[in-house]
Amino acid sequence: MTGSEQDPIEVPSTLVNTLVKTEQWVVMTGSGISAESGVPTFRDAQTGLWAQYDPQQLATQEAFENNPHVVWQWYQWRRELIRNTSPNPAHRALVDLQRLRPNLILVTQNVDGLHQRAGSTNVIEFHGNIHRNKCSHCQKPGPESEAAQPPNCAHCGELLRPNVVWFGESIPRVALQAAAHAIETCDVFFSVGTSSLVYPAAAMAETALTRQAIVVEINLNPTPLSSRADFALQGLAGQWLPAITDLVRAG
Ligand code: OAD
Repeated sequence: MTGSEQDPIEVPSTLVNTLVKTEQWVVMTGSGISAESGVPTFRDAQTGLWAQYDPQQLATQEAFENNPHVVWQWYQWRRELIRNTSPNPAHRALVDLQRLRPNLILVTQNVDGLHQRAGSTNVIEFHGNIHRNKCSHCQKPGPESEAAQPPNCAHCGELLRPNVVWFGESIPRVALQAAAHAIETCDVFFSVGTSSLVYPAAAMAETALTRQAIVVEINLNPTPLSSRADFALQGLAGQWLPAITDLVRAG
């Protein structure tokens, strides 16, 4: 099943039948859902951030200790880029789906805050939020900052860093527990715009499969999840999600 900009997309009727009958949905999103807003993904060839930058030099505690200014400035650049984007039809469709299915739990690996800007509520941020800061030492939250250099913590005086999960760090406990609880009770699990390569986020789809929830993947390209998903919808999230929303609303 494909959904390029040229082809009209057709949501399988078997999927629509399942969706109209179920209430407990979990949606896990990745950077692909924000791609149509102009936020770069991580692993797409040419355009992905990790094709151009070395994550070990920019997204680890060690990198920050060795070179706090470079890491901070890279995050300031990304913050600015994100501030200049807007939610796209895929983000907005999830807001509508949450109205149609108030039990929908939205878990995102994205740090850009675009789901919240679109109007989604109770978003579980698995990898933190790029706009927030915390202390690199005492971990206490710090204020947002547009400064060119990392500010000092008001509590301990050490440097503030972005409140995102870096390589080698744990997922925030509250987010992990809330997501795990949601998976235990879901009927349908959507994996949208993620390469399904990064754990533990990728393990959520595996748990959903083990629990025999219906697993729906929406992605421009095949991923390690595609062959095991009940529905692998290939194409733009900004096309598939609005189409699904219309059918659920009509349901
Ligand atoms: P990736 O860059 O690994 O994957 C993005 C996925 O989105 C790819 O599978 C693309 O095919 C797909 N994609 C791109 N545009 C799309 C569109 N318009 N519609 C649908 N799919 C589209 O990004 P993530 O899976 O989000 O972690 O990466 C996971 C984590 O790795 C990130 O949260 C980040 C990164 O290192 C941290 O920073 C901790």
